[in-house]
Amino acid sequence: MNVQPDPMTQTITILGIESSCDDTAAAVVRVSDAGQVLSSVVMGQNDLHADFGGVVPEIAARAHAERVDHCVEQALAEASVTLRDIDGIAVTAGPGLIGGVLSGVMCAKGLSAATGLPLIGVNHLAGHALTPRLTDGVPYPYLMLLVSGGHCQFLIVEGPDTFRRIGGTIDDAPGEAFDKTARLLGLPQPGGPHVERVGQNGDPRRFALPRPLLDRPGCDMSFSGLKTAMLRSRDSVIAEKGGLTTQDQADLAAGFQDAVCDILTEKTRRALDSYFDISPAVRSFAIAGGVAANGPIRHALQSLCANTQTQFIAPPLRLCTDNAAMIAYAGGVRMQAGQIDDLTLSARPRWPLDTAAPSMLGSGKKGAKA
Ligand code: KG4
Ligand code: ZN
Repeated sequence: MNVQPDPMTQTITILGIESSCDDTAAAVVRVSDAGQVLSSVVMGQNDLHADFGGVVPEIAARAHAERVDHCVEQALAEASVTLRDIDGIAVTAGPGLIGGVLSGVMCAKGLSAATGLPLIGVNHLAGHALTPRLTDGVPYPYLMLLVSGGHCQFLIVEGPDTFRRIGGTIDDAPGEAFDKTARLLGLPQPGGPHVERVGQNGDPRRFALPRPLLDRPGCDMSFSGLKTAMLRSRDSVIAEKGGLTTQDQADLAAGFQDAVCDILTEKTRRALDSYFDISPAVRSFAIAGGVAANGPIRHALQSLCANTQTQFIAPPLRLCTDNAAMIAYAGGVRMQAGQIDDLTLSARPRWPLDTAAPSMLGSGKKGAKA
C-alpha cells in the first residue's frame, strides 16, 4: 500500500463553493497542515422542495444560480476578508445534480477569470472524505464511513488523493431509507431525526425486519429490501386494524432503526478488520453525512471503536453534512500539491473517488444527495 506522506505546506487562504445538491454554500478556509474555518455559509432549500417529496433538480439549479453570488459575498464578509486576501478558488466539480454543479463552477470560473486567482475543481466526496483532516488533523490512513441521504460507502483514505473504496450500498443509501420510512409512517421530511425520535418509544422486536447482505462476506450493504419490508409490515397492520396507532408507528420506527443500526455496525466491524490489515500505528475511524447524527448508530459505532482501540471521530454535524468548508479545504490541499485547473474545468454528474473499485450492481446512489 502506498501511504502518502503529508506534504510540507505553506498557509493559503481558499474560497470554497458548493452547489452539488440542494445546499448553496460558500466558505473561507485557511489551509496549512490543518485547516481553520474562517467562515462557512450554507443556504438550504428544504422549503423549495417540500411539496415534491424530494429534490427537484431544475428548482435546485435555479436557486443555486440565484444565491451563489450572495453566498460568496456573505462568506467573504463573515471571514472579514476580500478577494484580495484569497489565494485560490475551490469549487465542487461533481458528482451531483449537473445543473447545480454548473452554477457553482460557472461562478468560480467567473471569479477566477476576473481576479486571475487559481481555480481548483474538487470532488464532492473527497471533500467529505478529507473532513476528518480539516477538523481533527487525523493521520493517514484512516477508515471513513460516509453515510448520507445519497451515499453509503467505506473508504480507506490513504492520502489527499488516494481513496480505497472497500464497500458500500448496492442500491439505496440509509438516509433515503430513513426518509422513505418517515413517509410511510406519516412523519415529516427529512425523515431521519423523526424516525429516530418516534422509535425511542417502540419495541424493535415486534416486526421481523430483514438485515440484507449480512449473511454474505464483505462490506457491501443493501437497504432497498428493508424499505420494502417496512412497506409490507405497515400495510399488514393497516389491513388488520384500518390504520396505525401511535404504538404501531413507534414499533415500526424502532424496528427500522434497529435493522439499519445492525447492518451498519456489522459491516463497519468487517471494514475495520480490512483496515487493520494495513496495521496503521494510529487506528482512526470517522463518520460523515447526515445519518451520522443518529444517536443509536453513533453510539454503536463508537463502542465498536472503543473495543478495538480505534480512535472514533465524528466531526461537528455542520461539517458532516454538505458545506463549502470541506470543499475549500480539499481544494487547498490540491493547490498545495500543484493540482490546479483552468477555465476548461468541466462539471461532472458522476465522478467515483476510487476508479479502481468495481462498479456496483445498482448505481450505489439513488438519492439526489451525495
Ligand atoms: O448529509 P446530508 O445532510 O445530505 C446528504 O444526503 O448529502 O444527509 C441528509 C440525510 C437525510 O436522508 C436525513 O433523513 C438523514 O440524513 N438524517 C438522519 C438523521 N438526521 C439526518 N438519519 C437518521 N437519523 C438522524 N438523526
Ligand atoms: Zn454530500
